[in-house]
Order: sequence, then structure tokens, then C-alpha cells
Amino acid sequence: MRTHFCLDVRIYTLLAAIFSYPLLAAAQSASVDANGHQWWQHAVFYEIYPRSFADSNNNGIGDLNGITSKLDYLKDLGVDAIWITPCYPSPQVDFGYDVSDYENIDPMYGTLADFDRLQEEASKRGIRIIMDFVLNHTSDQHAWYKESRSSKENPKRDWYIWRDGKGNNQPPNNWLSTFGGPAWKFDSTTGQWYYHYFYPQQPDLNWRNPAVEKAMFDVTRWWYKRGVSGFRLDAVDTLFEDPDLKNNPILPGRNKYGDPNMEDKYNKKLPELHGVLQRLRKVADENDAVLIGETWTKNIAELREYYGAHGNELQMPMDFLFTRVDKLSPAEFRKQIAGVDSAGWPVYVLSNHDIVRSYVRYGDGKHNDQIAKLMAGLYLTLRGTPIMYYGEEIGMTNNDPKRKEDVKDPIGRTGWPKEKGRDGERTPMQWNSSKNAGFTVGTPWLPVPASAITHNVQTELKDPGSILQFYRHLLTLRHREPALREGDYFALNESDPNVLSYLRKYKNEAVLVVLNMSGSTQTQSFDLAKQGFTSSRANTLLTTQPSPAEELSLSKLQIEPFGVYIGKVTK
Ligand code: GLC
Repeated sequence: MRTHFCLDVRIYTLLAAIFSYPLLAAAQSASVDANGHQWWQHAVFYEIYPRSFADSNNNGIGDLNGITSKLDYLKDLGVDAIWITPCYPSPQVDFGYDVSDYENIDPMYGTLADFDRLQEEASKRGIRIIMDFVLNHTSDQHAWYKESRSSKENPKRDWYIWRDGKGNNQPPNNWLSTFGGPAWKFDSTTGQWYYHYFYPQQPDLNWRNPAVEKAMFDVTRWWYKRGVSGFRLDAVDTLFEDPDLKNNPILPGRNKYGDPNMEDKYNKKLPELHGVLQRLRKVADENDAVLIGETWTKNIAELREYYGAHGNELQMPMDFLFTRVDKLSPAEFRKQIAGVDSAGWPVYVLSNHDIVRSYVRYGDGKHNDQIAKLMAGLYLTLRGTPIMYYGEEIGMTNNDPKRKEDVKDPIGRTGWPKEKGRDGERTPMQWNSSKNAGFTVGTPWLPVPASAITHNVQTELKDPGSILQFYRHLLTLRHREPALREGDYFALNESDPNVLSYLRKYKNEAVLVVLNMSGSTQTQSFDLAKQGFTSSRANTLLTTQPSPAEELSLSKLQIEPFGVYIGKVTK
């Protein structure tokens, strides 16, 4: 299937390439546009897992200089902000999510000077940097924890959650770690237990202690001074625990680690966390920064809470409910989009370093490339901010370990074979068709899949019908069309079981998006009078149709299996 991209967009691409530096520089300094939108509402975010993006020193692990070397690629793709998952010093038990120093760079990724150079080069290209902020816990190798565990009298003792056991070597209560086993570990130094929602090497900080809040807020100030534009807040759901340590209700059955199922009633989403987010937001506002939340909400009401009653908490709580729509179901997507669209400024994510890649989640094994474009056509044209995951734009697949002994992610070893861990979605970025996909000439820390031969940047740049070219065109449109940037969302033909379609309307113009989620050709008819458009035709902007007309009739719009049609409608 080839991608048709209308001439005007191609010309635009050229003009944008010539003028983009001054344009983007101007955009960075104006924090609110005429429609009241802030920079992050127009930005396309891109998540980089630094271990796997680009290896500049060929030790098999990606690094900051590797990222810097790929900034032109990201700029050409249409990325405005990169979120780098933790690159701070860390024993790497949880591959960086166990931070031992919040104000430095792990030597395996480079130095602070490398970070400054990355920041400077990114800024020259109008790309902002978002750091990952792990606030629920530190590494057990962090100086704060080392002090805390040293004695009950240490001034940092209360920076973590220490409790007596229940006699007979029993932990203080029945809480379980989300990574398997009890959430408490006994420490013989002082004869008490400490709490860890994740691995035992990740002790939870005590957010009821104001000194912890101050120290952690100061970390954000330190990075703001270095030029970062915001943070992705890790695991915000679990910041607080019930002070009385009430036992959690046990549910029927067992989980993939063999533990009893449990409702995390007393150690998750406690109301106190909203106070922290409100105060952290004030610090962010002083720095024109954005806070993105890793928010695993059960429903839209919970998601709504993360924006704050007065919009004073997270600007961008991630909508993971969207990632839970694991099939090509127009009805399910419609329902989910309507919910989040009414809750606040939506944040759309298809996959990340913890979630199986969208290429395999939605792919049917035969039309995966078409379906990858279809999904791009969805999350990059909705009202809201998309966060891409590296490699999505080239159709990277999951490469799950085949044998337990190959697993790197500890949960994949504890939970094998039910839980294979997250290695599969964290494999090296595929830059070309050479050995190791051009990621490294050393031995990559994770193996690249066989599909890297065809699905890589260099090969796809040469193919006008590739997934990568589709993403590039789509992102160009997204930046160019006011209706895609600013427009309201209107669901169309809401009872159609096969085709998801909607209108993004801004003033006198609109963009129509038609996504065929079925394996058969569909004919659609649109009446846009209710939205104020009487025109009977749409001007094609971008489509996967083989040889589309520049203009199509709205009363009989044919769309091929898994096809995307995006057209402009004017009054
Ligand atoms: C978040 C991260 C995940 C990590 C966990 C513990 O969920 O995305 O990768 O393992 O927090 O820090």
C-alpha cells in the first residue's frame, strides 16, 4: 500500500525545512497562543529509552551522545520534545528506575557535560527535553537510603517507610510488591522492615515527611536550571500509603507471580498525593514546564482527578485506558476518546517501555504495516498531545526472549513463562539493515528482531510507501493544519462497526479523518451539516488509498481495508 501525499504538503515540507529554525525558536518563547494553548499542547512528544536508542561508544548500550547524533532525524520526523527515561546514576536493577543520584548522569550514558551538549543541540533544533522523575522510590544505593538504614536515630530514618514486623518474622502487613512477593523487606541492621512497592532494591520514599518533599522538589529546580522543559512523573499512583498500614483486601485467584490477587486499596491512589502534585505544579509553572504523569487510571473519573479540580495538578496525565483498547474496535475507541476528550487535554499513548509494542498488539500478522499506519492515523490526528514511543514510526515489533536464561528484566525471570518481562519492547532502535540494525558495532544489550532488515530508518526513508514516510507526512500535517492542532473533536457515524471517523473543527475549516479498522473495503457517507459544513467534497490531504483523487465526494467515500483517509473540508 502506498501513501499518497498531496503536493501542497510536499512543498510545505521543503519550506518547513528551510524556515523551521527561526519558526520553532519563536514558538518556544511564546508560552500561550491565540487560542490559549501552551507549547506542550502543540508538541509531539517522543519517548527515548536511552539504553536502546543509539550507541556512540559501541559498548552495546545506548548513550546521550548517541541521542545527540540523532537529533536531526528526530527533527525531520516532526518531534518537538523528547522524554528520556532515567539516565541518572543507578545500579540498573530496574534499568535506571532505581536512581542512586538524582543530580547526575550515569557514566554508562555519559556525563553532565554530554547532557548539556544534548540540551544545547536539541534547543537549537527547537526540541525540548523532558526528564523522567522517579519520585516514589530511590535505589537502595542512594546516599539517603544508606543513611536511613544505618540507625533508627539517623536524621534520614524517616525518609523511608520503616516499621516493626508482626513478631515471628512476619512483615508489618499483607501488602504485595507489584513485581512479586511481599512489599516489605527485613533489614537486620536495625531489626525493622522497609516498604518497597517495586523491587526490594527500590525502597519507597516517605512523602509524609516534608524534608523528602523539599529535597525532591529541589531536584526538579536543579534540572529546570539546566534547561529541561518538564518531567514525566514515574509511578505517581503509589506515592502514599495508609499510615495505619491496614491490610489490603485479598481477591480470588493468583497473579502471574503466584501471589494472591489483591486490591491495592491502602497503598495506591491515596488522596494525599494530589497535594504533592499541586505543589509540584507550582514549581513547574514557575519554570514554564510541563508535568506528564504515569497515571494508571481505572476510569475517566480517576483520570479527571489527576488534572486537578482547578487544572492545578498534571497538565498531561497519560491516558493508559486508550492502550487497553487492545483490538481494532471503532466502538471501543470512540467510547474511550469521548471520555478523555471531556476530561481535559487528552494525552495519547500507544505503547511504551512497559507495554507490548502497538505493532504486534493491533497487527493481525498479515496487514501489520497497514495497521501501523492506521494507528498512527488515529493517535496523531486526535485532539490532544501524542507521546510516540521510539521505533513506532518504523513499525518495530516486540522481540520477546525465547528462553528464561536470556531474560534481562527481573520480572521476566520471576514470572516466567507467564510474564516474560519487558525486554521485548525495549530492543535497540533499528537504524539500517546492517548487523545489529546499525545501533552498535558491539554486542547489543538486547537482540534486534529479524524484521530489522526491512523495518529500519534507512530502508524506509527510501520507500515512499513506508510506515516512516507515513509518519513524517502525518506529523507535517499535524503541525501545519490549524484544525489538527487546535480543533475540537466531533465523532461521526457513531454506530458504524468498521470505520472510525471524526472531524476536527477549527473556525471555518475542518479536517475529516476516516479510519477503516476492518479487513474489507467500506463505503462511507458523511453529512457535516450539524457541524456547520455544507460542502459535499473533501480535499485529500493524506491517504493510504492507492491512487486517490485530489477531491472526494463526502456522500460516497470508499476506503480500502485498514485504510486511512484524511481530507480538508471548508465551509
Ligand atoms: C514505572 C516505569 C517502570 C518501572 C517502574 C518502577 O512503571 O515505567 O519501567 O519499572 O515505574 O520504577
